[in-house]
Amino acid sequence: MRWIIDTDAGVDDAIGIGMLLALGPLRDQQVSAITTVSGNVHVSQVNVNVGAVLDVFGADVPIYAGCDRPMIEPRVHAEEFHGADGLGGAGLSKTSRRPQREHAAIAMSRLAEQHAGDIGLIALGPLTNVALASNLDPSLPDRIAKLVIMGGAWQARGNQTSAAEFNIAADPESAHVVFERFPNVIMLPWEVSLDQMMPFEVFERIRAGASPRARFFAAMTRVVYDWRDRFGFAGVPLPDPLAVAVALDEGVIVRELKARVKIDIGHSIGRGLSSLDYRHPQPNTRVVVAVDADRAWQMIERAWVS
Ligand code: BDR
Ligand code: CA
Repeated sequence: MRWIIDTDAGVDDAIGIGMLLALGPLRDQQVSAITTVSGNVHVSQVNVNVGAVLDVFGADVPIYAGCDRPMIEPRVHAEEFHGADGLGGAGLSKTSRRPQREHAAIAMSRLAEQHAGDIGLIALGPLTNVALASNLDPSLPDRIAKLVIMGGAWQARGNQTSAAEFNIAADPESAHVVFERFPNVIMLPWEVSLDQMMPFEVFERIRAGASPRARFFAAMTRVVYDWRDRFGFAGVPLPDPLAVAVALDEGVIVRELKARVKIDIGHSIGRGLSSLDYRHPQPNTRVVVAVDADRAWQMIERAWVS
């Protein structure tokens, strides 16, 4: 199985990308492309961050730059969580890698055609590229074997607005398009990462590692102490790595709900809300509501300490 990772990297995106690069080959899974999108930081910075992660993993994977803004919403970034450069402001954002000339949405469509039925997509940022690709190529949803999305708030415990999670709130129109078009989404909502945080004990163990990867991990995750101080978190919320863990091994899923997920694109308090219609005759999403977190932490440790 091949994967395209669509990302707005982002500290937790970077952790998730490393997991798939390191552990995918052990499970007959490989990363064919990384596509980038504006989200946590501007897409030009995301390109550099992805390059830096590929460097530290010594991975030969092409980067395709995608949309530099949402479909309708003005850009919204999350530097206050991820640091000014998106990787914790730790000076890691250096690479000689450059994105390919092809646009991310075109690359998605091309790869889906080349590897129809044997390629999956993991979306770790706003869904702008995925929506655009499905507009350009209506056959895309039939060719993508699996679409795993980190996004949404199944209990409406938002982190961007009171009801909406960041990746959906940043570009609700694109999220609406994606959930309407793709028939079998696996969604890892924000609350799972709040309910199942990485214990600080595990976090500190990874940070104490001596390998170049572990040093990289330690540098970019210094911001986590700010999250703890600001929000009183008892652990580390890691939404994107949990989505990657599910993609790598569905055995990580402990509880899921089948529902028709619909995105609120209205202009009131619910904008960006991911509502779950359980009674709909055509569910489009498996909403993961509990995971085997210990297994996910082991994956992160294995990928980032060695
Ligand atoms: C999501 O938003 C970003 O800040 C994280 O990288 C994650 O994808 C969580 O709401
Ligand atoms: Ca992300």
